[in-house]
Amino acid sequence: MLKIVANPWQIITVDTFGQNVKRGAELNEIGLLTGYSIIIEDGFIKDIVPTVSIKSIEADEIIDAAGRIVLPGLVECHTHTVFAGSRSDEFRDKLKGISYEEIAQSGGGINKTVNAVRNASVEELIGITIPRIDYFISQGVTTLEIKSGYGLDFENEIKILRVIHYLNEKYTIDIIPTFLGAHVYPPEFKDNHKAYIDLLINESLPYVAKNNLAKYCDGFCELTAFSIPEIETVFNKAKSLGIQLKLHTDQFNSIGGVDIALKNNVVSADHLEAIKDEDIKKLGNSDIVCVLLPGVSFFLNHNFAPARKLIKQNAIVALSTDYNPGSSNISSLNLIMSIAALKMGMTIEETISAVTINAAKAIGLNNECGSIEIGKRADLALFNTGNYSDIVYNVGKNLNYMTIKNGEVIYISD
Ligand code: NIG
Ligand code: FE
Repeated sequence: MLKIVANPWQIITVDTFGQNVKRGAELNEIGLLTGYSIIIEDGFIKDIVPTVSIKSIEADEIIDAAGRIVLPGLVECHTHTVFAGSRSDEFRDKLKGISYEEIAQSGGGINKTVNAVRNASVEELIGITIPRIDYFISQGVTTLEIKSGYGLDFENEIKILRVIHYLNEKYTIDIIPTFLGAHVYPPEFKDNHKAYIDLLINESLPYVAKNNLAKYCDGFCELTAFSIPEIETVFNKAKSLGIQLKLHTDQFNSIGGVDIALKNNVVSADHLEAIKDEDIKKLGNSDIVCVLLPGVSFFLNHNFAPARKLIKQNAIVALSTDYNPGSSNISSLNLIMSIAALKMGMTIEETISAVTINAAKAIGLNNECGSIEIGKRADLALFNTGNYSDIVYNVGKNLNYMTIKNGEVIYISD
């Protein structure tokens, strides 16, 4: 099956010249092609040719992209999209000045969502999540990571992972499951952390590995969540089972998470709002993707991660919504790009690299997607503009016209 994405005004390739990642100053180079079309064969990018030459190609389908720009399909690399209930009451409290941590300590926060998820059936969770995934797809997202972490017992963590798997089967886009059993301590283990860690390492993780339920094991390294030795115990078990690692760290406090991230070779270190200068250097010298989540800083009225310092130190920086009901009830990736530009000083080009190739690296798919390069999956997003700056300049406005996954058109805007 041969298709042509024909005659776009411009292609933003995010070309990596085969490296499949961008670090430091490279984030600013996004590869513009004017007057080119994309040839797709059996779902993969076969060639990128001057539009003047496409008349001679016999294609099964022509996708007219005239007047539009083409980007790699967006990659949403850090979300908690499967959740039940609402925390709008806490949102009101936050507006009155009560902090996220105070809310959590008084019985709200993540454990409020845990309660709602435990009371929801698989069918209810699927029903709640479907429109959220549709919304991501409508923005040009073709790959989506989703974490568990709102079940926090064996049965309910597995329930969330099964929901994610069902949705991955149902949708053409790729949905990558991450096990976040080490999110916070659930109420029943509040005073017995060891017993909860034992549950994670002796029951949940072995079951997750045996049934291939998660690509990654994540944890929340924070004063109010998991300590360094606790995270390490979980990580050691995950590694012994062949599960790769991610880490939520340095969100509110810097307690040594970057060092255990480096020691354990995690794929990504996420948040980093409170990272120390010496740790910025360490991450800059590493292959760990720094996943920055400016929606959290915006939503909690908190510090932003030092994107400029990280880029200066040559780090691999990615961006994501962190979509969740408590710290970032934001599922608009283009809003995140705008916040990153306005509040963290990232350039428009850097934000594009951060939601494409580097986000793909944060979920280990950078050899397959995240840039428009020959041999990669034909995952594309067509935007209704002739100027890519508009994507970031139009704050909170979705300019995506068409989403293409593996060469199939899966969304066209009205
Ligand atoms: O990534 N940092 C911890 N976990 C989530 C918040 C989840 C919630 O508040 O429900 C985060 O910000
Ligand atoms: Fe998160």
